[in-house]
Amino acid sequence: MSELLLATDIVKTYTSACGMEHTVLKGVDLLVREGEIVAVMGESGSGKSTLLRIVAGLMPPDSGTVRYDGVKHTAPHPAVQMVFQDAGLSFNRYMTIGDSIAEGADHHKTGRTAEGMAQLVGLEGDLLERTPNKLSGGQLRRAALARALAMAPRVLLADELTSGLDLTVQAGLLNLLLRLAKEERLAIVLVSHDENVVRHLADRVIVIEGGKVAAQGTVEDLEAKGLL
Ligand SMILES: Nc1ncnc2c1ncn2[C@@H]1O[C@H](COP(=O)(O)OP(=O)(O)OP(=O)(O)O)[C@@H](O)[C@H]1O
Ligand SMILES: [Mg+2]
Repeated sequence: MSELLLATDIVKTYTSACGMEHTVLKGVDLLVREGEIVAVMGESGSGKSTLLRIVAGLMPPDSGTVRYDGVKHTAPHPAVQMVFQDAGLSFNRYMTIGDSIAEGADHHKTGRTAEGMAQLVGLEGDLLERTPNKLSGGQLRRAALARALAMAPRVLLADELTSGLDLTVQAGLLNLLLRLAKEERLAIVLVSHDENVVRHLADRVIVIEGGKVAAQGTVEDLEAKGLL
């Protein structure tokens, strides 16, 4: 399997308004191959979302590199799409959900439609006419996934995609991710706190702790170490 996304030695420090520095990532590597699902685990505040934003090209690291298909990138790449942890905030509140889903797809001429993507993620078609404030948290999460998939990405970065959703919706989305990975060779990085989700989906797992990758391997490897 070819390497699609490779982040090497990522370091990131935040500086608070009062000048306090907090180094969140202290040299983290992340590799995702075609068709592979990599789960990123770690305590709240360990830097999982920070790592995803950097890998998506939305925020520069202090040092380290991110390569997509062997080429270094420092800005968002259309083939690398992220579903944000706070999906609601990622939508333009004045646009309908349908227009938001279609916007990037039209611009990049991916040939994917808002209706088609809504159907794929199990979002009722009439919701496409609404603005984001008229959708529930779970519906917004599915809309955000639809918007990412409309770009026909080769890498999907999913930050807590299913947490808090009811179990049926969760299962539907997780099975969709599995299918996209296996049938369309989509590479997926999945941030999740849920061990059952990780067990069910992940080909590999990395655990971030203290700004470093504290453990990594297959689900079986981590189970053997008592980490899952
Ligand atoms: N823009 C920012 N400015 C300053 N500090 C930040 C910023 N974003 C995140 N942080 C801090 O960096 C640390 C890591 O945040 P991050 O959101 O990456 O963690 P996380 O692992 O995704 O947590 P969670 O599981 O709660 O989503 C936290 O201490 C957070 O408060
Ligand atoms: Mg997070």
